[in-house]
Amino acid sequence: MTTADSTATRDWPGIRLHVVTGKGGTGKTTVAGALALALAHRPPARRGTGGPGRTPRVLLVEVEGRQGLAQLFDAPPLPYEERRIATVPGGGEVWALAIDPEQALLEYLDMFYKLGPAAKALKRFGAIDFATTVAPGIRDVLLTGKTCESVRRRAQEPGRTFHYDAVVMDAPPTGRITRFLNVNSEVSGLARIGPIHNQAEAVMRVLTSAQTAVHFVTLLEEMPVQETLDGIAQLREAGLPVGGIMVNEARDVVLTDEQLKRAAGEGLDRTELAAGLAATGLDRPGIVDALTGLATEHARRVLLEQDQREALSGCNTATYELPLLGDGVDRVGLDRLAAALRAQGAA
Ligand SMILES: Nc1ncnc2c1ncn2[C@@H]1O[C@H](COP(=O)(O)OP(=O)(O)OP(=O)(O)O)[C@@H](O)[C@H]1O
Ligand SMILES: [Mg+2]
Repeated sequence: MTTADSTATRDWPGIRLHVVTGKGGTGKTTVAGALALALAHRPPARRGTGGPGRTPRVLLVEVEGRQGLAQLFDAPPLPYEERRIATVPGGGEVWALAIDPEQALLEYLDMFYKLGPAAKALKRFGAIDFATTVAPGIRDVLLTGKTCESVRRRAQEPGRTFHYDAVVMDAPPTGRITRFLNVNSEVSGLARIGPIHNQAEAVMRVLTSAQTAVHFVTLLEEMPVQETLDGIAQLREAGLPVGGIMVNEARDVVLTDEQLKRAAGEGLDRTELAAGLAATGLDRPGIVDALTGLATEHARRVLLEQDQREALSGCNTATYELPLLGDGVDRVGLDRLAAALRAQGAA
């Protein structure tokens, strides 16, 4: 983790696929959106490969069919089509794609077998439905395959190598992420030769390469932290690349260490507090009780959070903190989260 301004070195310079996972509800979609905005600010990794005026282009992909990205950016529901969803000062663009497994399957059938109208017949007979809903493994093959296609896609215009400088995936939660990312290795084992085998191998090459990083979003609470630690261990075991830990909804600590210990234990010094309040003219009936109560609650939570930070530090992974947004998550809030990620060197 770097803690300097925007001129600092970046922690993930060669990464083109950022996979964002975490326990359900901890902020995966929000952090994926913020990371995409942060990356859209980033100058291209290798100087000289882009012509003058070249601006970053980032793709945000959604794989769970819930239209979370459209909601996050306050946009209409996304069709199965890449759409520009945001721009950042300097011209960088964030595009979004909600991958629909059915459409992705038709695309593949067409690509590999040149099915043309036959694909439509398959759809009519419900074969596509069958393949994508009855066999969950196929769904994941299609979702990861389409994502990797967008990572590898070559630029059509001069001055760029790849169509997207980076792809950010709002991924399934921690409990499913290893299986999800590893699904193609099962496929390439089953189909030992032929186009399916080659496709599965190509996807695994991207996912296990130095171009991919899997980031974990967590809150400083016991359950999500434990899931993060387990998820990181599982990924490492599977040979998949672990990225950073994004601690979401981090709160400012307003007391010193000594005050924290005291407030969490016997409570703040009431006489001192009353004197301080009187000196500033803020003494009102009941205020000392209310404030000592609040301080105790704050201190206990902060101390628990510190335990969780310590547990996370055990896995030797870059850690970033994103502030709790008091006014909810809108574009202004997302920009604040993106700025926090940039200031810490995450993008
Ligand atoms: N830093 C933050 N400050 C304030 N609210 C936040 C922050 N991050 C996320 N939230 C809010 O927390 C809720 C959960 O966030 P989000 O939908 O991004 O989580 P998720 O991990 O994608 O959830 P799911 O597992 O359901 O997909 C949302 O209401 C979101 O607006
Ligand atoms: Mg989500």
